[in-house]
Amino acid sequence: MQVETLDIRTLPNAQATEIAELLVSVWPKSVKTVAVRHEQLLALGDHYAGLEAQAPRSLFIRENGQIIAHAAVLPRTIGTAAGDMVIAGLTRVCTAPEQRGRGLGEIVVRAVFELVDDGTFPFSLFQTTLEVRPFYEKLGATIIENPIINSLEKDAHGSPFWDKEIMRYPGSGNWPGGEIDLRGPGY
Ligand SMILES: CC(C)(COP(=O)(O)OP(=O)(O)OC[C@H]1O[C@@H](n2cnc3c(N)ncnc32)[C@H](O)[C@@H]1OP(=O)(O)O)[C@@H](O)C(=O)NCCC(=O)NCCS
Repeated sequence: MQVETLDIRTLPNAQATEIAELLVSVWPKSVKTVAVRHEQLLALGDHYAGLEAQAPRSLFIRENGQIIAHAAVLPRTIGTAAGDMVIAGLTRVCTAPEQRGRGLGEIVVRAVFELVDDGTFPFSLFQTTLEVRPFYEKLGATIIENPIINSLEKDAHGSPFWDKEIMRYPGSGNWPGGEIDLRGPGY
């Protein structure tokens, strides 16, 4: 299966809509419409001023004309006890409901983790649910226990992530202890 990669800053409207439609089919209970998902996806590319190699991107698999699996990489500079770090934020990971169990989720997430394995990013950092956590553990990610804050939010209290399980890839390596400042909202 071939993974296509597109820079979100220049993502054509047609592809943004296709991805938004997939997201709506995967999270049907969300109040977010295709239009909102479309806008929020493109917004991930707004005001990006980092390295080209780390630019925000969408990775997806297309079969019979349909986008059936997707993952987005959002570069974020986080504050840690060991200094600032640009991590690969992993977000909007999904496989179309009728296509699950074919290894497609694994392929798109591996393609993102490859950006860590090749040194583009030192780590990937993301939230997930207790239910999906084993899927990521199989791919070499591990739970982190660091307190997480967003110092840019006034009256900040608690983690800017909404899902309970916070993970990093790889599970090995020199991950700092102590507080992590996401310096922005969860993703
Ligand atoms: C999580 C998700 C992306 C997995 O996609 P998928 O294409 O079905 O996954 P794959 O077929 O690539 O599975 C790869 C491996 O993970 C396992 N796996 C997949 N989902 C799992 C889960 N929820 N719990 C435990 N293991 C899981 C598979 O059994 C498979 O293991 P194997 O290699 O031993 O056979 C998909 O279920 C999904 O879109 N869920 C809804 C959206 C969501 O929760 N996204 C994650 C947000 S963080």
